[in-house]
Amino acid sequence: MTPPLPNTSNDSVTGAAKGCDMQSGKFITFEGIEGVGKSTNMDFLAEVIEQHGHSVLKTREPGGTPIAEEIRRLLKEHGDEPMPDVAELLLMFAARAINVNNSIRPALASGTWVVSDRFTDSTRAYQGGGRGFAVDSIEWLANIVHGDLQPDLTILLDAPVETAMQRAVRRGDPDRFEIERTDFFKRVREAYLHIAEQEPERFIVVDVSRDLESVRTVIRDIASALLNEK
Ligand SMILES: Nc1ncnc2c1ncn2[C@@H]1O[C@H](COP(=O)(O)OP(=O)(O)OP(=O)(O)O)[C@@H](O)[C@H]1O
Ligand SMILES: [Mg+2]
Repeated sequence: MTPPLPNTSNDSVTGAAKGCDMQSGKFITFEGIEGVGKSTNMDFLAEVIEQHGHSVLKTREPGGTPIAEEIRRLLKEHGDEPMPDVAELLLMFAARAINVNNSIRPALASGTWVVSDRFTDSTRAYQGGGRGFAVDSIEWLANIVHGDLQPDLTILLDAPVETAMQRAVRRGDPDRFEIERTDFFKRVREAYLHIAEQEPERFIVVDVSRDLESVRTVIRDIASALLNEK
């Protein structure tokens, strides 16, 4: 039985991040399996937003602050000691708690836009879809760690696993996640598409099997829509 969800919804900064405060910046996340182009397109989106006069914090998960980056190193390095799946899940959320409290919330509250390479949807897709953790357990942890702070927009970059893996391999060394088998990434991709279907108002799914220039045109259109929103 999963214990009842703690109530963290009266956090004042959470309110700001949700748009209750006129100062608040927007929180945009990029998701997708390895090699789909999250880092590349996130840099591009951040540039477009900055050109419109907003300050932008670029962050990544796991990581984003010195302590959280240390946790990232622990999660990614190739060691002989096994990393139990539950430890991986908890370390992901530990890193997120640090990044949310020390970096993301303060930035949003001061009016800075935050663009993140991965957030909790990665945990839902990898630890949930990929490793098989129950949705309820993940949502319980998510609620403790970031309450009702949710991305204003999540851009899911989607391509067949084979296409993404070829790009990731061409780019450089495989890490602990990249050496997972193809069927693992197929489950992760399916989980992402399922989450996006459940929350169509938060997600935009972009087909990135096309060339980078076509993808950029789509990202530019998304940026225009966001910047014109009031
Ligand atoms: N639409 C595209 N067409 C062709 N190449 C692309 C496209 N998008 C990204 N790439 C290239 O694919 C490689 C992987 O992209 P990138 O590193 O941005 O992916 P990522 O999603 O950040 O991966 P990871 O999750 O492993 O960090 C890069 O070399 C990038 O230039
Ligand atoms: Mg990347």
